[in-house]
Amino acid sequence: MSQDFPNCTVVDHPLVKHKLTLMRRVETSTASFRALLQEISQLLAYEAMRDLKLREETIQTPLATMQAPVLEGKKLVLVAILRAGQGILDGMLQLVPSARIGHIGMYRDPETLMAVEYYYKVPGQLTDRDVIVCDPMLATGNSAVAALSRIKASKPGSLRFVCLLACPEGLANLREHHPDVHVYTAAIDERLNEHGYILPGLGDAGDRLFGTK
Ligand code: URA
Repeated sequence: MSQDFPNCTVVDHPLVKHKLTLMRRVETSTASFRALLQEISQLLAYEAMRDLKLREETIQTPLATMQAPVLEGKKLVLVAILRAGQGILDGMLQLVPSARIGHIGMYRDPETLMAVEYYYKVPGQLTDRDVIVCDPMLATGNSAVAALSRIKASKPGSLRFVCLLACPEGLANLREHHPDVHVYTAAIDERLNEHGYILPGLGDAGDRLFGTK
């Protein structure tokens, strides 16, 4: 857990740190950025899913019968905040291919920096399901707050948020509105600039992921 932000776990691992540094570099290509985001997302997912519940099942190995642990309950739900959240979701899906998927389309009003929703499609029954919302950059936190509020209305069993980079302003905003939602990230950067970008950050995650700049 982060000392200043009890609602946040910074995944402290040399591979995470190394891959994040490669992603920050301005010269990193779109293809590398995309591959690295998938790799790092699996490491973040490993931590974010650490407390998923298990139950015992009787199975047959080639040599014996045994009681073995399997994930309990309904399938996990992964929700990407479009568009950059798709990059995290693709990585996580490699670990949990049977997860159900949701998408929330949000854009940031450039003047007010407030989140505006333009698309919402998540699995119908979220009750009793563990839900993980993904977006690489927790900047102002406005999109994350709006997305989490929308999902909470469907009463999920649990709700977590996974991002690649967070900043103090976004974490404080999330904590104020959703103190019950834990955040998993690779790093907490210094601050936001006046345009709502994280410093030192890595630039626009969507543009870097999709090569749109
Ligand atoms: N969104 C991004 O893609 N980058 C930032 O630094 C902040 C928000």
